[in-house]
Amino acid sequence: MTELVEPTDKGIERAGHVLAGGGLVAFPTETVYGLGGAADNDEAVAGIYEAKGRPQFNPLIVHVLGLEEADRYALFTEMARKLAQAFWPGPLTMVLPRRRDCPLSLLVSAGLETVALRAPAHPIARALIAAAGHPIAAPSANASGTVSATGPDHVLKTLDGRIDMVLDGGACSVGLESTIVDVTGEVPVILRPGGITAEEISTVLGTEVHAHSARKKDETAPMAPGMLTSHYAPSLPVRLNASSPEAGEAYIAFGADAPSDTTANLSETGDLKQAASRLFSTLHALDRPDLYSGIAVASIPETGLGVAINDRLKRAAAPKTP
Ligand code: TXA
Ligand code: MG
Repeated sequence: MTELVEPTDKGIERAGHVLAGGGLVAFPTETVYGLGGAADNDEAVAGIYEAKGRPQFNPLIVHVLGLEEADRYALFTEMARKLAQAFWPGPLTMVLPRRRDCPLSLLVSAGLETVALRAPAHPIARALIAAAGHPIAAPSANASGTVSATGPDHVLKTLDGRIDMVLDGGACSVGLESTIVDVTGEVPVILRPGGITAEEISTVLGTEVHAHSARKKDETAPMAPGMLTSHYAPSLPVRLNASSPEAGEAYIAFGADAPSDTTANLSETGDLKQAASRLFSTLHALDRPDLYSGIAVASIPETGLGVAINDRLKRAAAPKTP
């Protein structure tokens, strides 16, 4: 059962404990409700994907208190700093390069070398981040394929029983997701339009801003980065549904009856959530052309989180376009 909790000091403190312990809490932001989990906890982040029932690992927005905290996770250019100073806290999400020592789960980036950061303005969201003592990864608090939630009742409609708690902050004031701007290049690119417009961003920076051209017509979602070719793929060839490694290959097993020459096991107990939590870090660790000729992966059941894991593995195994 999902508990609906009043956002009193005590309620927020309890929600913070749930997050710090790896649980999932939906909470209000000024845009829409977020489905939160600790962004530096692989299993909590895997739990977010599980609760949403997403067939893909779309990268998630990480919610922080402000620039000082964000600086520890990502590299800020002068331009990014200006945007944070102008629009944070508020409905602006910036896609930035991850720091090399970034403590955030690789799963929040879905294997990309970037991370999306936003400092929400909603007082309950801010109090919750502080109470958790962790940055909070949060996609919109709705099951995959349904409309974003702008009230606690919307959250419960699709997520009841799938998350631990909902902080009841009433209706969201903006009701539209944050603007997402990619600031990893020289010219900022709007990946998803939102309350903060390209004109406002352009005015603050005194430069032009590009809009992402290839957006889907029917929704406000950005081009799903999971579909972009820039999405991280190992440099080594990946072979799927392998029951054992061939000479020179690293082998990623799943479950108890792994071959003796297994290099890594996504989950010794066959737990898909654990497998999801280890997927990206395992691919990164084994992508060693100096040690291996390729990466062979055991077959993963096509159920629950297995669907998203297999989707990602198929992309990793697809022939590379130069
Ligand atoms: O207003 C909002 O942004 C709400 C509240 C909860 O903060 N959150 C939200 O999250 O709309 P979500 O997951 O529904 O949308 C986040 C979008 C995804 O479409 C994802 O593809 C994109 O952000 N995104 C996240 N990280 C990214 C990255 N590293 N590069 C490009 N896009 C990214
Ligand atoms: Mg969404």
